[in-house]
Amino acid sequence: MDTPVRIDALTASPAIYAALSEMLIETVAHGGSVSFMHPLALEDADAFWRDSLASAERGERIVFGAFDGETLVGTVSLVLSLPPNQPHRAEIAKMMTRLSHRHRGIATALLQAAERAAIERGRWLLVLDTATDEGASGLYERVGFTLSGIIPDYAYKPHGGLTGTMFYWKRLQNIVPA
Ligand SMILES: CC(C)(COP(=O)(O)OP(=O)(O)OC[C@H]1O[C@@H](n2cnc3c(N)ncnc32)[C@H](O)[C@@H]1OP(=O)(O)O)[C@@H](O)C(=O)NCCC(=O)NCCS
Repeated sequence: MDTPVRIDALTASPAIYAALSEMLIETVAHGGSVSFMHPLALEDADAFWRDSLASAERGERIVFGAFDGETLVGTVSLVLSLPPNQPHRAEIAKMMTRLSHRHRGIATALLQAAERAAIERGRWLLVLDTATDEGASGLYERVGFTLSGIIPDYAYKPHGGLTGTMFYWKRLQNIVPA
C-alpha cells in the first residue's frame, strides 16, 4: 500500500460525524452506489451516521474507519444484527474511500479488518451487494468473494437511471461450521 493507514472501529464524536458525512456526500456526488441519491443533504448524511454509530454502540454493527494521520479517508461497516437463525453470518456495507485516496489499497485493508472482526465473533459467512454499473465487483472478487447472481434494475444510481445489483458471498477460512 502507498499510504500507511490505521484502521479503527469508530465511535461517535462531532469530528467523526463531520468526516463521515463529508465522505458520504462526496461518494454519492461522484456516482458511488451506497443507497443514496445526489444531491445528499448534510442533515440526511448526519442522520444516517448518527443511526449507524448508535447501532454500533449497541453492538449491532462495527463501523471501521481508515485514517491517514488524523484524517478519515475510508470506511466500511460490518453488520452483525441478523435474524436469530443466522448467527454465523455478517454483512459488509457502506464501503467507501475518499477520492483523494483511491487505488492505494485502503478498501482492501478495511475489508481485511472487517474479516478479522467477523472471525473473532464466529461470523464465518459474509454477504454483500454492489452495483453492476460503477460498483466494486473487481475489488470484492480480488479478495475472494463469489458472485451468486445479478438482479437487473435493482436500484437507482445517484444521478438517476437504474442499475442492476450483484450479490456476493465469502466463506471465511479456518472456521468449521457447527
Ligand atoms: C470501491 C472503493 C471503496 C474502492 O476503494 P479503494 O480504496 O480505491 O480500493 P483499493 O485501493 O483497495 O482497490 C481498488 C483498486 O485499486 C487497485 N490498487 C490497490 N492498491 C493499489 C496500488 N498501490 N496501486 C495501484 N492500484 C492499486 C486494486 O487492485 C483495485 O483494483 P480493482 O478494483 O480493479 O480490483 C472506492 O472506489 C469507492 O469509494 N467507490 C465509491 C463507493 C462504492 O462504490 N462503494 C462500494 C459499494 S458496494
